[in-house]
Amino acid sequence: MASGTESSEAATAGPPPSVEEIRTTALAALVDADSEVVLDQWRVAYLGRKSDLTNVLRSISSLPAEDRKTVGASANQLRGALEEALAEKAQELKAGPSEIADALDVTLPGRRRRSGGLHPTTQTIREITDAFGAMGFQIAEGPEIEWERYNFDALNIPADHPARDQWDTFWLDSPDGKGRSDMLLRTHTSPMQARLMEQTDPPIRVVIPGRCFRYEATDATHEWHFFQVEGLAVDRGITFADMKGTLFEFARRIFGPERKVRFRVDFFPFVEPGAEMAIDCFKCNGQGCSMCKGTGWIEIMGAGMVHPAVLRNVGYDPEVYTGFAFGMGVERIAMLRHGIDDVRQFASGDLRFLSQF
Ligand code: PHE
Repeated sequence: MASGTESSEAATAGPPPSVEEIRTTALAALVDADSEVVLDQWRVAYLGRKSDLTNVLRSISSLPAEDRKTVGASANQLRGALEEALAEKAQELKAGPSEIADALDVTLPGRRRRSGGLHPTTQTIREITDAFGAMGFQIAEGPEIEWERYNFDALNIPADHPARDQWDTFWLDSPDGKGRSDMLLRTHTSPMQARLMEQTDPPIRVVIPGRCFRYEATDATHEWHFFQVEGLAVDRGITFADMKGTLFEFARRIFGPERKVRFRVDFFPFVEPGAEMAIDCFKCNGQGCSMCKGTGWIEIMGAGMVHPAVLRNVGYDPEVYTGFAFGMGVERIAMLRHGIDDVRQFASGDLRFLSQF
């Protein structure tokens, strides 16, 4: 027993701590002192008669002459520093919690970070392409700056054809600056029909979202830039019935399972026959209201069977292959679905609009 006690005392004794070690431990211990009682214990432990610092100060006279001055100076400096720190801490405790601590109410709920989101146009594009994706369509994209050839000629719209007037066009200047070049900002996504058919052999089933541009005055229903989603399906034996079935399914996926669709003859130079597809008004169920302007129907896209001349232009044999194409305005679909009344909101960058989606 006795020997055990002796050995544990020997283990804790060790070499006396240096002035710097005393400083470190003393100041660290002071941080935690949170009452006058603890503060007094601290004073006894680090500045008291039996403290390490007092021991150092007492032992100075027995040090070798060359050490006395430096050790003495640093030990005295430390005593001053500790006394000062003690006084400061005592003051702090007396003053009570600081103003900052008072102002910090940890029970307040945190400030929520504003998170970004997908633009309503992007959301709508994804909903549209998802609907066609579920029916086996792939997605492709094409250039916004397009050759006249793809935007018009390949689509059976020759230079002198009055149908060109249907598309108000931003032309790029010619390199010499005199007049226009044969490049333009695409007026629709249909040029991608020709590009894809040139690049690939049938079967093709693809939807093509993208931005389009038209040189026109803006108002609540017209923008000079907007998005379309184009669609194209080409294979042996594709019929108008396939087109109707596909677009009917699309309408039900986007506008609800009760939707009816209506196809009426329309003219686009690159389809024959051409059609305009409408859905029965989802607001009044076809009764007639402000949404459908009293007609009970809402037009949502142009469509038709790919014109034989277009198939020939890209090197397909119209006797072997047939197909259908369609194109719709994305903002228009989003406006219908969300009851948005002004197309200019989409590009406004106004967070009061955007944060609703
Ligand atoms: N590109 C046509 C437009 O912008 C829409 C359309 C696409 C019509 C495909 C028929 C077939 O008006």
